[in-house]
Amino acid sequence: MAAASAAAGPWVRRAGAQGAPVKIGLVLPYTGVYAVLGESITQAMELVFARENWTVAGRKIEMIKEDDEMKPPVGIRKTEKLIDSDKVDILTGPVHSGILMGMRDKVHNSKTILIVSNAGADAISRERCSRWIFRTSFSNWQPCQPMGGWVAKNVSKEVFQIAPNYQAGKDMMAAFRETFVPAGGKVVAEDYPKLGETDYAPYLTKIKQSGAKAVFAFFSGSDAVNFVKQYDQFGLKQSIKLTGAGFLTEPDVLPAQGSSALGVVTGHFYTPLLDNPTNQRFVKEFRDKFGGKMPDGFACQGYDTAEVIVRALKAVNGNTQDKDKLVEVIAKLEFDSPRGRFRFDQKTHNVIQPFIYVREVKEVAGGINNVPIDKVADVKDPGTGCTLPA
Ligand code: PHB
Repeated sequence: MAAASAAAGPWVRRAGAQGAPVKIGLVLPYTGVYAVLGESITQAMELVFARENWTVAGRKIEMIKEDDEMKPPVGIRKTEKLIDSDKVDILTGPVHSGILMGMRDKVHNSKTILIVSNAGADAISRERCSRWIFRTSFSNWQPCQPMGGWVAKNVSKEVFQIAPNYQAGKDMMAAFRETFVPAGGKVVAEDYPKLGETDYAPYLTKIKQSGAKAVFAFFSGSDAVNFVKQYDQFGLKQSIKLTGAGFLTEPDVLPAQGSSALGVVTGHFYTPLLDNPTNQRFVKEFRDKFGGKMPDGFACQGYDTAEVIVRALKAVNGNTQDKDKLVEVIAKLEFDSPRGRFRFDQKTHNVIQPFIYVREVKEVAGGINNVPIDKVADVKDPGTGCTLPA
Protein backbone atom coordinates (compact mmCIF):
# COMPACT_ATOMS: atom_id res chain seq x y z
CA MET A 1 0.00 0.00 0.00
CA ALA A 2 2.77 2.36 0.96
CA ALA A 3 4.71 1.40 -2.15
CA ALA A 4 1.65 1.77 -4.34
CA SER A 5 0.82 5.23 -3.04
CA ALA A 6 4.45 6.31 -3.37
CA ALA A 7 4.46 5.16 -6.98
CA ALA A 8 1.23 6.98 -7.65
CA GLY A 9 2.62 10.09 -5.99
CA PRO A 10 1.31 11.96 -2.98
CA TRP A 11 -0.91 14.17 -5.13
CA VAL A 12 -3.21 11.46 -6.40
CA ARG A 13 -6.65 11.72 -4.92
CA ARG A 14 -8.11 8.38 -3.84
CA ALA A 15 -11.62 7.91 -2.54
CA GLY A 16 -11.68 8.84 1.13
CA ALA A 17 -7.96 9.56 1.18
CA GLN A 18 -5.94 12.73 1.06
CA GLY A 19 -2.54 13.40 -0.46
CA ALA A 20 0.27 15.07 1.45
CA PRO A 21 -0.32 18.75 2.19
CA VAL A 22 0.83 21.34 -0.34
CA LYS A 23 3.37 23.47 1.48
CA ILE A 24 3.34 27.15 0.62
CA GLY A 25 6.28 29.09 2.06
CA LEU A 26 5.82 32.81 2.74
CA VAL A 27 8.84 35.11 3.12
CA LEU A 28 7.27 38.38 4.27
CA PRO A 29 7.89 41.23 6.71
CA TYR A 30 5.80 40.77 9.86
CA THR A 31 7.88 43.35 11.73
CA GLY A 32 9.39 46.68 10.64
CA VAL A 33 8.44 49.47 8.23
CA TYR A 34 6.56 47.17 5.84
CA ALA A 35 4.85 44.93 8.46
CA VAL A 36 1.38 46.19 7.45
CA LEU A 37 2.07 45.09 3.86
CA GLY A 38 2.99 41.57 4.95
CA GLU A 39 -0.18 41.42 7.00
CA SER A 40 -2.47 42.48 4.13
CA ILE A 41 -0.90 39.99 1.71
CA THR A 42 -1.22 37.14 4.23
CA GLN A 43 -4.82 37.98 5.14
CA ALA A 44 -6.00 37.97 1.53
CA MET A 45 -4.25 34.64 0.87
CA GLU A 46 -6.03 33.20 3.88
CA LEU A 47 -9.34 34.52 2.58
CA VAL A 48 -8.92 32.64 -0.72
CA PHE A 49 -7.68 29.41 0.89
CA ALA A 50 -10.52 29.50 3.44
CA ARG A 51 -12.97 29.77 0.50
CA GLU A 52 -11.49 26.45 -0.69
CA ASN A 53 -11.77 24.96 2.83
CA TRP A 54 -7.95 24.81 2.85
CA THR A 55 -8.07 21.82 0.48
CA VAL A 56 -7.34 21.85 -3.25
CA ALA A 57 -7.36 18.81 -5.54
CA GLY A 58 -7.50 16.56 -2.50
CA ARG A 59 -4.48 18.12 -0.79
CA LYS A 60 -4.52 20.30 2.30
CA ILE A 61 -3.00 23.75 1.96
CA GLU A 62 -0.36 24.47 4.57
CA MET A 63 1.08 27.98 4.85
CA ILE A 64 4.53 28.29 6.45
CA LYS A 65 5.08 31.94 7.39
CA GLU A 66 8.56 33.35 7.90
CA ASP A 67 9.32 36.91 9.00
CA ASP A 68 12.12 38.37 6.87
CA GLU A 69 12.33 41.34 9.28
CA MET A 70 13.01 43.51 6.20
CA LYS A 71 16.65 42.42 6.33
CA PRO A 72 18.11 40.82 3.18
CA PRO A 73 20.36 38.33 5.06
CA VAL A 74 17.37 37.18 7.16
CA GLY A 75 15.16 36.90 4.06
CA ILE A 76 17.78 34.79 2.29
CA ARG A 77 18.25 32.54 5.34
CA LYS A 78 14.48 32.02 5.64
CA THR A 79 14.30 31.25 1.91
CA GLU A 80 16.98 28.58 2.30
CA LYS A 81 15.17 27.10 5.29
CA LEU A 82 11.86 26.92 3.41
CA ILE A 83 13.45 25.34 0.34
CA ASP A 84 16.02 23.00 1.96
CA SER A 85 14.39 21.99 5.27
CA ASP A 86 10.65 22.46 4.80
CA LYS A 87 10.80 21.45 1.13
CA VAL A 88 7.99 23.80 0.19
CA ASP A 89 6.10 23.16 -3.03
CA ILE A 90 5.66 26.85 -3.79
CA LEU A 91 7.33 29.93 -2.37
CA THR A 92 5.76 33.43 -2.17
CA GLY A 93 6.81 36.89 -1.02
CA PRO A 94 8.84 39.01 -0.48
CA VAL A 95 7.89 42.69 -0.09
CA HIS A 96 11.35 44.26 -0.26
CA SER A 97 13.11 44.51 -3.68
CA GLY A 98 16.55 43.99 -2.11
CA ILE A 99 15.40 40.75 -0.49
CA LEU A 100 13.97 39.52 -3.80
CA MET A 101 17.30 40.18 -5.52
CA GLY A 102 19.06 38.27 -2.75
CA MET A 103 16.66 35.28 -3.02
CA ARG A 104 16.77 35.07 -6.78
CA ASP A 105 19.73 32.73 -7.35
CA LYS A 106 18.71 30.26 -4.63
CA VAL A 107 15.21 30.08 -6.12
CA HIS A 108 16.47 29.78 -9.68
CA ASN A 109 19.18 27.19 -8.98
CA SER A 110 16.88 25.00 -6.86
CA LYS A 111 14.09 25.27 -9.48
CA THR A 112 11.64 26.41 -6.83
CA ILE A 113 8.52 28.11 -8.10
CA LEU A 114 8.38 31.60 -6.58
CA ILE A 115 5.27 33.73 -6.95
CA VAL A 116 6.37 37.24 -6.03
CA SER A 117 3.54 38.85 -4.10
CA ASN A 118 5.01 42.34 -3.80
CA ALA A 119 8.69 43.21 -4.41
CA GLY A 120 8.85 45.14 -7.67
CA ALA A 121 12.58 45.01 -8.56
CA ASP A 122 12.51 45.74 -12.30
CA ALA A 123 15.52 43.47 -12.91
CA ILE A 124 13.39 40.39 -12.12
CA SER A 125 11.36 41.14 -15.26
CA ARG A 126 14.51 41.93 -17.21
CA GLU A 127 18.15 40.81 -16.90
CA ARG A 128 17.58 38.77 -13.72
CA CYS A 129 14.37 37.02 -14.74
CA SER A 130 13.90 33.28 -14.22
CA ARG A 131 11.40 30.85 -15.67
CA TRP A 132 10.74 29.71 -12.06
CA ILE A 133 9.70 33.20 -10.96
CA PHE A 134 6.26 34.73 -11.52
CA ARG A 135 5.09 38.08 -10.21
CA THR A 136 1.45 38.79 -9.34
CA SER A 137 2.13 42.27 -7.93
CA PHE A 138 3.89 44.78 -10.23
CA SER A 139 7.31 45.77 -11.45
CA ASN A 140 8.41 49.04 -9.85
CA TRP A 141 8.25 50.60 -13.32
CA GLN A 142 4.54 49.88 -13.79
CA PRO A 143 2.78 52.31 -11.41
CA CYS A 144 5.34 55.09 -12.03
CA GLN A 145 6.13 55.25 -15.74
CA PRO A 146 2.62 56.42 -16.72
CA MET A 147 2.73 59.10 -14.01
CA GLY A 148 5.64 61.07 -15.53
CA GLY A 149 3.77 62.28 -18.59
CA TRP A 150 0.58 62.77 -16.59
CA VAL A 151 2.24 64.98 -13.96
CA ALA A 152 4.08 67.02 -16.63
CA LYS A 153 0.80 67.64 -18.45
CA ASN A 154 -1.59 68.08 -15.53
CA VAL A 155 0.38 69.19 -12.47
CA SER A 156 3.78 70.79 -13.11
CA LYS A 157 6.96 70.52 -15.13
CA GLU A 158 9.16 71.30 -12.10
CA VAL A 159 9.35 68.32 -9.80
CA PHE A 160 11.33 67.21 -6.73
CA GLN A 161 11.75 63.42 -6.51
CA ILE A 162 12.07 61.62 -3.19
CA ALA A 163 12.13 57.92 -2.21
CA PRO A 164 13.89 55.60 0.23
CA ASN A 165 17.49 54.85 -0.64
CA TYR A 166 17.29 51.33 -2.05
CA GLN A 167 16.45 49.58 -5.27
CA ALA A 168 12.67 50.09 -5.29
CA GLY A 169 13.07 53.84 -4.73
CA LYS A 170 15.65 54.12 -7.52
CA ASP A 171 13.59 52.00 -9.94
CA MET A 172 10.43 54.04 -9.37
CA MET A 173 12.06 57.44 -9.70
CA ALA A 174 13.78 56.36 -12.96
CA ALA A 175 10.48 55.04 -14.37
CA PHE A 176 8.76 58.37 -13.69
CA ARG A 177 11.53 60.27 -15.50
CA GLU A 178 11.11 58.08 -18.61
CA THR A 179 7.93 59.94 -19.53
CA PHE A 180 8.33 63.12 -17.46
CA VAL A 181 11.51 64.42 -19.15
CA PRO A 182 10.37 63.83 -22.77
CA ALA A 183 7.14 65.69 -21.88
CA GLY A 184 9.24 68.77 -21.04
CA GLY A 185 9.56 68.07 -17.32
CA LYS A 186 12.58 69.07 -15.27
CA VAL A 187 13.69 67.23 -12.15
CA VAL A 188 14.68 70.21 -9.98
CA ALA A 189 16.35 67.95 -7.39
CA GLU A 190 16.10 64.46 -5.93
CA ASP A 191 16.86 62.94 -2.57
CA TYR A 192 16.98 59.48 -1.01
CA PRO A 193 16.44 59.24 2.77
CA LYS A 194 17.17 55.93 4.40
CA LEU A 195 14.43 53.28 4.48
CA GLY A 196 12.81 53.64 7.90
CA GLU A 197 13.62 57.37 8.32
CA THR A 198 11.33 58.91 10.92
CA ASP A 199 12.26 62.60 10.69
CA TYR A 200 11.76 64.10 7.23
CA ALA A 201 12.26 67.75 8.36
CA PRO A 202 15.67 68.16 6.66
CA TYR A 203 14.22 66.81 3.40
CA LEU A 204 11.10 68.96 3.63
CA THR A 205 13.30 72.03 4.08
CA LYS A 206 15.18 71.10 0.88
CA ILE A 207 11.91 70.61 -1.00
CA LYS A 208 10.67 74.01 0.14
CA GLN A 209 13.89 75.74 -0.90
CA SER A 210 14.17 73.93 -4.25
CA GLY A 211 11.54 75.98 -6.06
CA ALA A 212 9.79 72.80 -7.23
CA LYS A 213 6.06 73.10 -7.90
CA ALA A 214 5.34 69.41 -7.27
CA VAL A 215 6.85 66.36 -5.60
CA PHE A 216 6.88 62.80 -6.92
CA ALA A 217 7.42 60.41 -4.00
CA PHE A 218 7.55 56.73 -3.20
CA PHE A 219 7.18 55.67 0.42
CA SER A 220 5.29 52.74 1.88
CA GLY A 221 4.19 51.35 5.24
CA SER A 222 5.18 53.45 8.24
CA ASP A 223 7.49 55.58 6.03
CA ALA A 224 4.41 56.65 4.05
CA VAL A 225 2.55 57.57 7.25
CA ASN A 226 5.44 59.69 8.52
CA PHE A 227 6.22 61.38 5.21
CA VAL A 228 2.63 62.33 4.31
CA LYS A 229 1.82 63.60 7.81
CA GLN A 230 5.03 65.60 8.14
CA TYR A 231 4.60 67.04 4.61
CA ASP A 232 1.25 68.45 5.74
CA GLN A 233 2.47 69.60 9.17
CA PHE A 234 5.40 71.36 7.52
CA GLY A 235 2.88 73.42 5.53
CA LEU A 236 3.90 72.21 2.06
CA LYS A 237 0.62 70.60 1.07
CA GLN A 238 -1.09 73.75 -0.19
CA SER A 239 1.84 75.14 -2.19
CA ILE A 240 3.67 72.10 -3.60
CA LYS A 241 1.41 69.34 -4.99
CA LEU A 242 2.26 65.91 -3.61
CA THR A 243 2.14 63.09 -6.17
CA GLY A 244 3.67 59.63 -6.16
CA ALA A 245 3.52 55.89 -6.53
CA GLY A 246 0.23 54.45 -5.23
CA PHE A 247 1.88 52.86 -2.18
CA LEU A 248 2.15 56.35 -0.69
CA THR A 249 -1.56 56.48 0.14
CA GLU A 250 -2.83 52.91 0.19
CA PRO A 251 -5.60 51.96 2.64
CA ASP A 252 -3.00 50.28 4.89
CA VAL A 253 -1.75 53.77 5.78
CA LEU A 254 -4.69 56.07 4.98
CA PRO A 255 -6.39 55.77 8.39
CA ALA A 256 -3.15 56.87 10.12
CA GLN A 257 -2.53 59.67 7.61
CA GLY A 258 -6.09 60.97 7.90
CA SER A 259 -6.79 64.37 6.36
CA SER A 260 -3.07 64.91 5.64
CA ALA A 261 -3.51 62.56 2.66
CA LEU A 262 -6.42 64.49 1.09
CA GLY A 263 -5.56 65.71 -2.40
CA VAL A 264 -2.50 63.48 -2.89
CA VAL A 265 -2.38 62.10 -6.46
CA THR A 266 -0.80 58.71 -7.14
CA GLY A 267 -0.57 55.98 -9.78
CA HIS A 268 -1.58 52.40 -9.00
CA PHE A 269 -3.18 49.27 -10.49
CA TYR A 270 -5.82 49.06 -7.78
CA THR A 271 -8.24 50.93 -5.56
CA PRO A 272 -10.94 49.21 -3.48
CA LEU A 273 -13.40 51.52 -5.26
CA LEU A 274 -13.17 49.58 -8.56
CA ASP A 275 -16.69 48.60 -9.53
CA ASN A 276 -16.13 45.16 -11.07
CA PRO A 277 -18.08 42.26 -9.41
CA THR A 278 -14.93 40.34 -8.33
CA ASN A 279 -13.65 43.40 -6.51
CA GLN A 280 -16.99 44.16 -4.91
CA ARG A 281 -17.18 40.63 -3.54
CA PHE A 282 -13.54 40.78 -2.43
CA VAL A 283 -13.98 44.08 -0.58
CA LYS A 284 -17.07 42.81 1.20
CA GLU A 285 -15.58 39.44 2.19
CA PHE A 286 -12.27 40.98 3.26
CA ARG A 287 -13.97 43.61 5.40
CA ASP A 288 -16.29 41.04 6.96
CA LYS A 289 -13.40 38.74 7.83
CA PHE A 290 -10.94 41.37 9.06
CA GLY A 291 -12.99 43.68 11.27
CA GLY A 292 -13.96 46.25 8.66
CA LYS A 293 -10.42 46.73 7.33
CA MET A 294 -10.38 48.11 3.77
CA PRO A 295 -8.33 45.93 1.38
CA ASP A 296 -5.36 47.65 -0.24
CA GLY A 297 -3.30 46.83 -3.33
CA PHE A 298 -1.20 44.46 -1.21
CA ALA A 299 -4.32 42.50 -0.31
CA CYS A 300 -5.22 42.33 -4.01
CA GLN A 301 -1.73 40.91 -4.63
CA GLY A 302 -2.25 38.30 -1.90
CA TYR A 303 -5.64 37.40 -3.39
CA ASP A 304 -4.13 36.95 -6.85
CA THR A 305 -1.17 34.95 -5.52
CA ALA A 306 -3.52 32.51 -3.78
CA GLU A 307 -5.85 32.44 -6.78
CA VAL A 308 -2.90 31.50 -9.04
CA ILE A 309 -1.92 28.72 -6.62
CA VAL A 310 -5.47 27.33 -6.34
CA ARG A 311 -6.11 27.39 -10.08
CA ALA A 312 -2.73 25.88 -10.93
CA LEU A 313 -3.15 23.05 -8.40
CA LYS A 314 -6.59 22.24 -9.78
CA ALA A 315 -5.26 22.26 -13.36
CA VAL A 316 -2.54 19.69 -12.53
CA ASN A 317 -4.84 17.67 -10.25
CA GLY A 318 -2.61 18.37 -7.27
CA ASN A 319 0.60 17.10 -8.91
CA THR A 320 3.34 19.45 -7.75
CA GLN A 321 6.16 17.06 -8.71
CA ASP A 322 6.17 17.90 -12.41
CA LYS A 323 7.48 21.44 -12.06
CA ASP A 324 7.87 22.08 -15.78
CA LYS A 325 4.19 21.34 -16.22
CA LEU A 326 3.29 23.56 -13.27
CA VAL A 327 5.28 26.46 -14.73
CA GLU A 328 3.57 25.98 -18.08
CA VAL A 329 0.13 25.92 -16.45
CA ILE A 330 0.77 28.99 -14.26
CA ALA A 331 2.02 31.04 -17.20
CA LYS A 332 -1.22 30.45 -19.10
CA LEU A 333 -3.66 31.22 -16.25
CA GLU A 334 -6.20 33.99 -16.77
CA PHE A 335 -8.94 34.99 -14.39
CA ASP A 336 -10.98 37.89 -13.04
CA SER A 337 -9.03 39.59 -10.27
CA PRO A 338 -10.23 42.48 -8.12
CA ARG A 339 -7.93 44.62 -10.33
CA GLY A 340 -9.54 43.39 -13.60
CA ARG A 341 -8.57 40.56 -15.97
CA PHE A 342 -5.40 38.93 -14.64
CA ARG A 343 -2.77 37.54 -17.04
CA PHE A 344 0.98 37.08 -17.16
CA ASP A 345 3.33 38.43 -19.77
CA GLN A 346 4.66 35.19 -21.34
CA LYS A 347 8.13 36.66 -21.83
CA THR A 348 8.75 37.91 -18.31
CA HIS A 349 6.18 36.11 -16.09
CA ASN A 350 5.25 39.54 -14.72
CA VAL A 351 1.58 40.54 -14.47
CA ILE A 352 0.22 42.81 -17.20
CA GLN A 353 -1.71 45.53 -15.35
CA PRO A 354 -5.20 45.84 -16.87
CA PHE A 355 -5.02 49.52 -15.87
CA ILE A 356 -2.83 51.95 -14.02
CA TYR A 357 -5.20 54.43 -12.43
CA VAL A 358 -4.30 57.99 -11.59
CA ARG A 359 -6.05 58.38 -8.24
CA GLU A 360 -6.74 61.30 -5.97
CA VAL A 361 -7.33 60.90 -2.23
CA LYS A 362 -10.80 62.17 -1.43
CA GLU A 363 -13.43 61.85 1.24
CA VAL A 364 -15.99 59.31 -0.05
CA ALA A 365 -18.70 57.09 1.40
CA GLY A 366 -16.89 54.70 3.73
CA GLY A 367 -14.07 57.13 4.55
CA ILE A 368 -10.99 58.59 2.87
CA ASN A 369 -9.98 56.67 -0.24
CA ASN A 370 -8.25 56.72 -3.64
CA VAL A 371 -10.67 57.89 -6.34
CA PRO A 372 -9.67 57.18 -9.97
CA ILE A 373 -9.44 60.37 -12.04
CA ASP A 374 -7.65 58.96 -15.12
CA LYS A 375 -6.27 55.63 -16.37
CA VAL A 376 -3.92 53.94 -18.82
CA ALA A 377 -4.70 50.42 -20.14
CA ASP A 378 -2.53 47.29 -20.49
CA VAL A 379 0.59 48.44 -18.71
CA LYS A 380 3.29 45.86 -19.38
CA ASP A 381 6.86 46.03 -18.11
CA PRO A 382 9.22 46.73 -21.04
CA GLY A 383 11.36 43.68 -20.17
CA THR A 384 10.93 42.00 -23.56
CA GLY A 385 14.42 40.62 -24.16
CA CYS A 386 14.37 37.93 -21.51
CA THR A 387 14.40 34.40 -22.80
CA LEU A 388 13.67 32.77 -19.41
CA PRO A 389 16.63 30.39 -19.46
CA ALA A 390 16.19 26.96 -17.84
C1 PHB B 1 9.79 47.03 -2.98
O1 PHB B 1 10.76 47.02 -2.20
O2 PHB B 1 9.83 46.50 -4.10
C2 PHB B 1 8.51 47.68 -2.58
C3 PHB B 1 8.22 47.83 -1.22
C4 PHB B 1 7.04 48.44 -0.83
C5 PHB B 1 6.15 48.88 -1.78
C6 PHB B 1 6.43 48.73 -3.14
C7 PHB B 1 7.62 48.13 -3.53
O3 PHB B 1 5.01 49.46 -1.41
